[in-house]
Amino acid sequence: MTTTVDSTFTEPTATPLALLLLGRQADPNSERGVECPGDLPPASDPELVERARAAKAKLGDRVFILGHHYQRDEVIEFADVTGDSFKLARDAAARPEAEYIVFCGVHFMAESADILTGDAQQVVLPDLAAGCSMADMATAEQVAECWDVLREAGVADVTVPVSYMNSSADIKAFTGKHGGTICTSSNAKRALEWAFEQGEKVLFLPDQHLGRNTAVREMGFSLDDCVLYNPHKPNGGLTAEELRDAKMILWRGHCSVHGRFTLDSVEEVRERIPGVTVMVHPECRHEVVAAADLVGSTEYIIKALDAAEPGSKWAIGTELNLVRRLAKAHPDKEVVFLDRSVCFCSTMNRIDLPHLVWALESLVEGRVPNVITVDPETEKYAKAALDRMLALP
Ligand code: 13P
Ligand code: SF4
Repeated sequence: MTTTVDSTFTEPTATPLALLLLGRQADPNSERGVECPGDLPPASDPELVERARAAKAKLGDRVFILGHHYQRDEVIEFADVTGDSFKLARDAAARPEAEYIVFCGVHFMAESADILTGDAQQVVLPDLAAGCSMADMATAEQVAECWDVLREAGVADVTVPVSYMNSSADIKAFTGKHGGTICTSSNAKRALEWAFEQGEKVLFLPDQHLGRNTAVREMGFSLDDCVLYNPHKPNGGLTAEELRDAKMILWRGHCSVHGRFTLDSVEEVRERIPGVTVMVHPECRHEVVAAADLVGSTEYIIKALDAAEPGSKWAIGTELNLVRRLAKAHPDKEVVFLDRSVCFCSTMNRIDLPHLVWALESLVEGRVPNVITVDPETEKYAKAALDRMLALP
């Protein structure tokens, strides 16, 4: 089944810049501790698959394993459900009987699962270093300061915060406290429509690209309606007048994986593969999204390929694990990775089979490792924002 694609799918070259330097204190915020008490099996252990199967079977319905689409094949194989961040948030909330939710994804997703699941359930992240560089680009202090800047400019009262799922529980709580909602890449347009019914402006956190792409490409705003708030500059680098004139106040954050796709790669692939359809994730830069044929969340990308004609040609701009899996699943279509150098999401890739086996075997032994817990006050407001998202039409 995989042979056709294996012969045509070209692996991009790894570049050091595509990887975060984890475990070296290069970005302590996204490291969040990397210890695994007890024995982490070596990746070379030939029994890993068997051990994962056995531990999962022993745990039965007590454990529910969620796998984000960017996870490695070796991990996805053991997921009870796979999905984008929206689907996984809903799936976690719909499993009240599972004692343990093992979240094969990144830290902010596990936090959201903890918020949406019952008090008796525990959410386990197999490697605590699986953070998200984008989520780390907006801290609670920076966002509180930004709100003060908006207040001083006289626009806070008419501004509704909309925060991307890819944010910490603190940022979600800020959003809930100020009457805003969470969104994901599947429902950003609906979230923004809702927000503009509540107020005149939106503060969009932390992904400038998803905010800009949704507002301009899907809702008819112009680029001039958007301003960029830079948390590292006094007053975000904006004047009160600029804030008053803006419709979308975009936080200066981005995804370190999707931000690397370029307009050049779109032009190059169109020349190389005549008739190719370019499909990208909305976390890509605006010029990339504007040059693409189709734009959507990971779930959207998967469905579009399922519905595609045999023989059709596709260049996909999203994380490499997913694109590789899609190429394997569609040997009757030509599926290429949009860029020759963009690589895996290194933090998603922290979750590997040894960490999954370690987490499952710990649970079998009665130890609950790497529990992700959000404090009750944060949870209350973050849940209000997440519930608003889940209730969007
Ligand atoms: P979705 O799964 O919502 O498409 O988001 C992609 C992503 O970057 C997750 O971190
Ligand atoms: Fe964060 Fe980007 Fe990785 Fe998603 S793909 S977890 S947004 S760094």
